[in-house]
This record gives sequence, C-alpha cells and structure tokens, in this order.
Amino acid sequence: MRPSRSESSSPGERAKKPPRPTGPRLLADCDQPQAGLLVRLPRATATVRLGRLLAVDALPGDVLSLAGPLGAGKTCLVGGLARGLGITGIVASPSFSLINQHSGRLTLYHVDLYRIGHESELSDLGLWEAAEAGGVLAIEWLERFPDAVSRDRLQIDLRYAEGSPLQPSPSPAEGRLARITCGGPRSAARLAALAARLAP
Ligand SMILES: Nc1ncnc2c1ncn2[C@@H]1O[C@H](COP(=O)(O)OP(=O)(O)OP(=O)(O)O)[C@@H](O)[C@H]1O
Ligand SMILES: [Mg+2]
Repeated sequence: MRPSRSESSSPGERAKKPPRPTGPRLLADCDQPQAGLLVRLPRATATVRLGRLLAVDALPGDVLSLAGPLGAGKTCLVGGLARGLGITGIVASPSFSLINQHSGRLTLYHVDLYRIGHESELSDLGLWEAAEAGGVLAIEWLERFPDAVSRDRLQIDLRYAEGSPLQPSPSPAEGRLARITCGGPRSAARLAALAARLAP
C-alpha cells in the first residue's frame, strides 16, 4: 500500500534533515585522565581541524606525540597544527629529513622517528634543546623511543574507524578515531583546554 500523504515526507521535510557532522566530534570525555578524550574524525578536514584546535592553547615547550599505523593521518594533523600556529608554508612529511622546522607564532619542530635505527642518533636531532628553547614539538613514531623527550606530553593515538589497523578500510571516507591522553600536569592542562573546545 502506498503511504498516505501525511505519512510520506515532502522534499521540504527531507531537506530539514541535519547534515552529517564533518568536523572533529567528541565521543567521550573520560573521567580518568589516563583514559583521555575520544574524538571522531569523519574525514581529513576534521583531522586538520583538530590540529588547529590543538594550536590554540599550545605554549612554548609543548610536546605532542602522534601515533597510529601508516597513513593514519599523523602528518595531516600536524598540518592543521601548523596552520593554527600561523605557519603558511607546506608541511611535508619529515620521513627522510627526520626533522622539519617551521616559523610561526611559535616555532614548530615536526619530527618523524620511523627511520631512526638507534637511540644514539637522537642526540643529533636536539629534541630536548628544541623544547627548552620554546619550540612546539610534534613527533611521529615517538613510541619507538619513548624517552626521547619529556613524558609530560599529549599523546594522540589515531586509528582507522573501520577495519583493523593492519587492514585499513579501502575507503578514506570511513574516517579515523583519535584517543588523546596526557602524561603529566602540563599536558593535562592542554587536554582540559581541548575538551572544553570540543564540547558541544
Ligand atoms: N579523518 C580522516 N578520514 C579520512 N582520511 C584521512 C583522515 N585524516 C587523514 N586522512 C588521510 O589519510 C592519508 C594519510 O595521512 P598522513 O600522511 O597524514 O598519514 P601518516 O599517519 O602521517 O602516515 P605515515 O605513517 O606514512 O607518516 C591522507 O590522504 C589524509 O588526507
Ligand atoms: Mg606521516
């Protein structure tokens, strides 16, 4: 049986449907600091936006650790962080350069430890010195050398929203999930500030 006029939705009613959210969306603000925030990133622009939000409260000497499987969006997020710090140049992956320096409201050091073979190579990068000099450090693959910088850092774990991390969904539209935790009082303050910015 065809639906009566009152049951069917008119084109006008259909148009009123809220659009699917495309920005970063807070899924959970967990009570325990170690559980942190869970943020849905439906598409790459949401990852960039999250980076921009992180830049708003960034202070000299802050450290962010970006973790997640290959292609999870770590560099993409640092791109947003850079824009939020007023950096206009291209934010290329430091896979081979290991460390890229960008000048903005604060100096951003974008680091990738994927190709570092031994911790003796870390001293050449001068990470502690960069933080002490007032830079902001965004470090990919820091989990390979967790003591390369202060443990009081924001930890951003990215994963594919669908499928296992080792078998990422073929559709980038599936998006990502970010879990953000802190490692000490300094990063706890940044986490609280971010939670307030993400709150609906
Ligand atoms: N939330 C998202 N939803 C869908 N695609 C995304 C999302 N965030 C980032 N991407 C896309 O994922 C791809 C890989 O991103 P990116 O290069 O930043 O990953 P990565 O984690 O730095 O990789 P690598 O481990 O090789 O350094 C890019 O095409 C980017 O646009
Ligand atoms: Mg990368």
